[in-house]
Formats: sequence, structure tokens, C-alpha cells
Amino acid sequence: MLNVKKVVIPAAGLGTRFLPATKASPKEMLTVVDKPLIQFAAEEALDAGIKELIFIVGRNKNVIEDHFGKSSELESELEKKNKTESLELLKQVVPEGVTCAYIRQAEPLGLGHAVLCAASAIKDENFAVLLPDDLVKSESRGCLKQMLEEFEEGIDAILAVEKISLSESEKYGIVDPGTQRGRVIDVNGILEKPLAKDAASDYGVVGRYIFTPKILSFLRDLPAGAGNEIQLTDGIASLISNSKVKAYEFEGVRYDCGSKLGFLKANVDYAVEHPIIGSEFRNWLKGRTQ
Ligand code: UTP
Repeated sequence: MLNVKKVVIPAAGLGTRFLPATKASPKEMLTVVDKPLIQFAAEEALDAGIKELIFIVGRNKNVIEDHFGKSSELESELEKKNKTESLELLKQVVPEGVTCAYIRQAEPLGLGHAVLCAASAIKDENFAVLLPDDLVKSESRGCLKQMLEEFEEGIDAILAVEKISLSESEKYGIVDPGTQRGRVIDVNGILEKPLAKDAASDYGVVGRYIFTPKILSFLRDLPAGAGNEIQLTDGIASLISNSKVKAYEFEGVRYDCGSKLGFLKANVDYAVEHPIIGSEFRNWLKGRTQ
């Protein structure tokens, strides 16, 4: 297993599918029950042992910095009121030893461009990329942790994939798979948002990646691709031509929280399991669906 100490968390997209909620606050701050998507992302990285968080932020950057920054006023109010549990929750947002850096993407030119914005912070180290709007709920180990266990010498990228319905191929990067061993699949090629008839498989890439720094040089000179955006997928396609790239079929359920339907499903699934409101919510839900 190779060493990965840094994660890039892109949060500079426009979030148009969630307007007007995303007019003044980034999509990544939408909450599933009581926690913002971006905090789920940070927790998944910490679960994988990654302690350097690099956030790519856009026009509403302060909201994200404020969430992960120290809130001295709120903390002293909670202390005064003896609200120890709430205070503890606040302290857990950024545990001891974790560092947060914020890099501005001046214009949302695409995910590939967002990752490239982090180049000066990544330097020549391996790094992960974690998209907060893909929320993965897994029983034992987080998705990124599972992937890290497969990231070995000789591999330059590992991408999380899941089987998708081919009618939705135009929403995903689709991999051309080679040999599969357990959950690990060789990747022979990748195409961003192909028509179903052009899709090499029904393996769609979801928002988890681990890279060696080699990807950065491929992203540098990349022209705009699908949707006129600089696509991370196109950078990976170039990387595949002279490097070993693997896909990993993760264990867990993925919610596409960039879409309203996926976001609502995540809220329901997390709410029914919530330690405080879960049982009451389940009863209420049963009543509604009868
Ligand atoms: P999406 O493709 O979901 O785009 O981005 P979006 O703009 O956020 O949402 P819609 O489609 O307009 O509703 C996937 C991830 O990549 C980040 C987003 O913040 C999200 O985490 N992203 C995308 C950037 O950081 N910068 C970009 O230029 C594009």
C-alpha cells in the first residue's frame, strides 16, 4: 500500500441543479439530516488516515472556511450554557492534527481544472480526490479506505466504479474494463459521458480517485471536453496510455447527492438509522407509505 497523505475536495461547482438553495451557499454545504455533505467527505478522508485536507472553493468560499474554522464565539456560548455534547460535536469537525487548506478556483472550468488548482499544494506527492456530492455509505471501511488498500507500487491511478444503468451513461465517465480480480479491475480506457451505444461497459466512475502526481502533467495542457469543461476523465484517458490505471468496485451504497432524488434518498436512509430521531422517523414513514 502506497502512502497517501493529502486529499483534494473540490467544492467550486455552480450547483445549478439545486438552485435556489445554492445561490449563496455551496451545494457541498447541503445537509444530510444534520451534517453537511462536505463534512461527510472530510470524515471519509480521515477514516482513510488522510489528515491534509485541500478544499477547492469557489464564489461562496467563506461558508466552507467558516464551517471548518474555529468558532470561538459559539464555543464560549455553549460552554457558558453547559452544552457539553454540542461542544464536543463542534470539536469533532476538525480533529487534532488535521490541517485544512483552501484554494480558490476563480471560474468553474471543470473538475480537471479544479484538481489542477491544487497542484501547488500537492507538489510531487500521491493524493486522493473526493467529491462531496457522491456520498458513500458503507458498513465497515469507508470507500476511500477500501481503495487505499489496493493502491500499490506501479499503479498511477485507482478510480471508484459501480455498475450503472446504461440509460444513464451520459452522466458518468465510463471505463473500458480489462481483467478483474475480486473488486479490482484493469482499466484499458475511459470516456466521459458517452452515449449508451458508445459505452465500453456499464462501469461508471463515482467521485473517488487516488493518483500519483503524474496525472497533473496530463491535466496541464488539456483542452475543454464534454460540456466545454476541462474534464478529469480526459486527463485519466491520457494517463492510461502510458500508465497502469485500476478501477475498484467499492463496497457500499452511493447516493448521487448532486441530484435532488439522490439527495432525498440519502436523507431518508440516514434518518431511519439516526440514533435519536430514527425510530420516530421510521414510524412516521410507515404511516405515510400505507
Ligand atoms: P458537478 O459536475 O456536479 O457540477 O461537479 P456542479 O456545477 O457542482 O453542479 P450542477 O451540475 O451545476 O448542479 C462535481 C464536483 O466537482 C466540483 C463540484 O463542486 C462537485 O463537488 N467542481 C466542478 C469544481 O470544484 N469545479 C468545477 O469547475 C466543476
